[in-house]
Amino acid sequence: MSLPTINPTTTKAWKALENHYNNIKDTHLKDLFSTDANRVENLSINWNDFHVDYSKNRIDQTTKKLLIDLAKEVKLDEAINSYFQGDPINQTENRAVLHTALRAPKSSTLNLDNKDIIQEISKVKEKIEKFTNQIINGDLKGHTGKKFTDIVNIGIGGSDLGPAMITESLEFYKNHLNLHFISNVDGDHVHQNLKKLDPETTLFVIVSKTFSTQETLSNANTARTWFTKQAPIDAVEKHFVAVSSNIPNVTSFGISKDNIFPLWDWVGGRFSLWSAVGLSISLSIGYKNFELLLEGAHEMDEHFKATPFEENIPVILGMLSIWYNNFFNVESEAIIPYSQYLHRLPAYLQQGIMESNGKSIDRNGETIDYQTGTIIWGEPGTNSQHAFFQLIHQGTKLIPSEFIGFKHSLFNDNNHHHKLMANFFAQTEALMNGKNKAQVLQELNNSNIPQNKLQQLLPFKVFEGNKPTTTVLINKLTPKSLGALIAMYEQRIFVQGIVWNIFSYDQWGVELGKQLASEILSEIEKSEISEHDFSTKNLLNRYIC
Ligand code: F6P
Repeated sequence: MSLPTINPTTTKAWKALENHYNNIKDTHLKDLFSTDANRVENLSINWNDFHVDYSKNRIDQTTKKLLIDLAKEVKLDEAINSYFQGDPINQTENRAVLHTALRAPKSSTLNLDNKDIIQEISKVKEKIEKFTNQIINGDLKGHTGKKFTDIVNIGIGGSDLGPAMITESLEFYKNHLNLHFISNVDGDHVHQNLKKLDPETTLFVIVSKTFSTQETLSNANTARTWFTKQAPIDAVEKHFVAVSSNIPNVTSFGISKDNIFPLWDWVGGRFSLWSAVGLSISLSIGYKNFELLLEGAHEMDEHFKATPFEENIPVILGMLSIWYNNFFNVESEAIIPYSQYLHRLPAYLQQGIMESNGKSIDRNGETIDYQTGTIIWGEPGTNSQHAFFQLIHQGTKLIPSEFIGFKHSLFNDNNHHHKLMANFFAQTEALMNGKNKAQVLQELNNSNIPQNKLQQLLPFKVFEGNKPTTTVLINKLTPKSLGALIAMYEQRIFVQGIVWNIFSYDQWGVELGKQLASEILSEIEKSEISEHDFSTKNLLNRYIC
């Protein structure tokens, strides 16, 4: 079954939301709290070890109801069924979207083209498990008989960001293996990394679904050349493995079939960390922890599939994002993890969210006249407080922000953790309440500042507040809770794509640049610049001369 194709702006709920927006747009969050004693209970969700408090958003019960009506009117429930049962919902590429199957239990079944894909997935998982154990235990060794000490993941986009973000986030759980990630075609990236490595003890994991990506193939070739300068050519098969769905390209690169970890066309690059693309994750934290990551994601999938929209975390978060994007016309959203381990989470989510929903043609093939794709950015707290928080507090733009924090730290250092979390709570409180003139005046009156100075200073010290935030408070950063957190964002992407009536699982927009780069590269290599616009031509001529 194909996805519904309803223009959201034609729904009754959308029209009602437009009217409702005019009623609520100037209401201060403080007033929303003072008029609803049960606001926190009504606008928060407890699920497993997650507590999601969305009460500090510029909504009331009517907003929530209308947003849910919108989700229902665009037939989100039907779309969820199509997605999980493997309908080809990536219609422009005629593919199913089944990263959810990668984390489904072994005992489940899912037939696609008359094959139970859960069994195929299990076989690959067994291969990952065996290989992981052999590398960690040292049963598989390098060509000179030494155990592997370093793993280099070569990939880009989804073949890099997911494994890199997860291994960094779960560094606490890592074993003795050192992980390195080479992604950029910038030669300085690969050479800087190779400089640190010993070819006798390094394993390269080349990750590319298509095995045709310029960056990955260039880096893989450079790594192989570096390796074969110091090792015999037949040692390549011991030191290079690949994760790909393009077996012919991998074998012609020189990697043996036995060393290929397959994936399928129904796994999108930016949703692939749950597949063999996560091999580096498994090597870094061990297969059992990798399984726990999948288990956490699966539990979130089940929550998403089975929970009424009113209590459904990805649905609520997705609809809130639509509320700000399409009614408040906000330009961007911030994601602020209060955990240094989650340092790469915003960059990872930028691909997931922006590559999926940065679309301007709807599912009917028509040009869209409403906003889609939110711009996501962020950095961990508290560092970001000392960087861009000024703009969120007192700038002219409204930036809805999501705060992610953990009740317990991993090293149990409460001296630090209480400070971190005090900031976490203080920021959302400050963003909501702000500080009015009377409060500022009182503070200034208690200081020794002369009256004339005080009046001058007053407007600069006022915080209008009313800045929306959502708090996701999780018990502890574990493989399982991280799996659930990532799946929460994946399903939120789906919700927004459905409501916006766009295809979230293709990425045609990245093709043109790739195509032009390959043409320009051959011009640069021949030192013959052909026809371009004046600016590009001038720049190219300056580069080659
Ligand atoms: O940037 C486009 C893209 O296709 C991403 O969607 C993908 O994650 C990345 O390139 C890498 O692709 P591959 O795994 O095929 O090398």
